[in-house]
Amino acid sequence: MALSPTASRLTQSEVPAGRPIPTLVEDVEAGLLTPPRWLPPKYFYDDHGSRLFEAICDTPEYYPTRTEAALLAACSKDVIDQVRPGHLLELGSGSSRKTRYLLDACSQLGVQPVYWPFDVSAQMMLDAGAALVEQHDWLNVHALIGDYSGGLAQLPLPDDGRRRLIVFLGGTLGNFEPPDAVAMLREIAALMKPGDGLLLGLDRVKDKARLEAAYDDAAGHTAAFNLNVLSVLNRELDADFPVEAYRHRAVFDEPRARIEMRLLADRAHTVCIGALDTRISIAAGEQILTEISRKFTRPAIDELLTAAGLSMRSHFEADGGDYSLVLAGADPRA
Ligand code: AVJ
Repeated sequence: MALSPTASRLTQSEVPAGRPIPTLVEDVEAGLLTPPRWLPPKYFYDDHGSRLFEAICDTPEYYPTRTEAALLAACSKDVIDQVRPGHLLELGSGSSRKTRYLLDACSQLGVQPVYWPFDVSAQMMLDAGAALVEQHDWLNVHALIGDYSGGLAQLPLPDDGRRRLIVFLGGTLGNFEPPDAVAMLREIAALMKPGDGLLLGLDRVKDKARLEAAYDDAAGHTAAFNLNVLSVLNRELDADFPVEAYRHRAVFDEPRARIEMRLLADRAHTVCIGALDTRISIAAGEQILTEISRKFTRPAIDELLTAAGLSMRSHFEADGGDYSLVLAGADPRA
């Protein structure tokens, strides 16, 4: 059998972290041992949690994924035509499901960027990349395996004068506290030259009931997703959180314009965390903050971009302003 001609168009490399990434043990020491208790959301996504997230995206209540996908389907051609990228870098590419719209637009317009998905899950990227090079005979995919929270300075993208389109979808920037979000955008801006573009997906402020329903679907997938992080801790840290003693909560904090996902302890209990050689006492009614998901107004989007040294080139929004896709450029004045 002849070697598949597609194999040579899918390559990969590991991206070393440019700064130390806290370990699970360090994050638990920093956030969980004393109140107010919190955990970074990245620990949701073990195999089971990643599947639960997919299930969340299919619920009628969780609108962001399908709204963003529809928006991307509608604006991809415009975005590709504006930037005409030679490189398409996607942060947190996952299964590259939505990237297809951008690549299809490239095919239609005869624009042929190298696609650089960047994610921690090598297998997911390589599976997706294999399918993409099959579908597009012009396409080269170079999978970047790593954690973008370790910085973007070590990326192997060539400085070949071809324009870059950097894509950061899913509203994931909303998981960052305001200063961290600005820092992240500044790192992205540092990769950009005039003419390059950043395509950023941001969820918008809307009716509290709709927001809270999106993070507490009736089928219970979001509750299972939130509670799963305790199972991750139990497994990874040899801990014994009583998962059945916790309840999922999702509250929209209006002043801070953010959903907070929390785990509420029904009863007092102690938890043994083997890997830390420690026990903690949790009181009845105590909560662990497991995720923030910020929602933006139009003015808040402008403020965010300005703070990061970016300028708005195009703003695409879903009907009624449910969701935004922003095409930004690096501000030459920054
Ligand atoms: C994919 C991180 C953007 O914040 O809406 C979905 C994750 N959490 N339901 C979000 C999530 C609960 C999601 N992000």
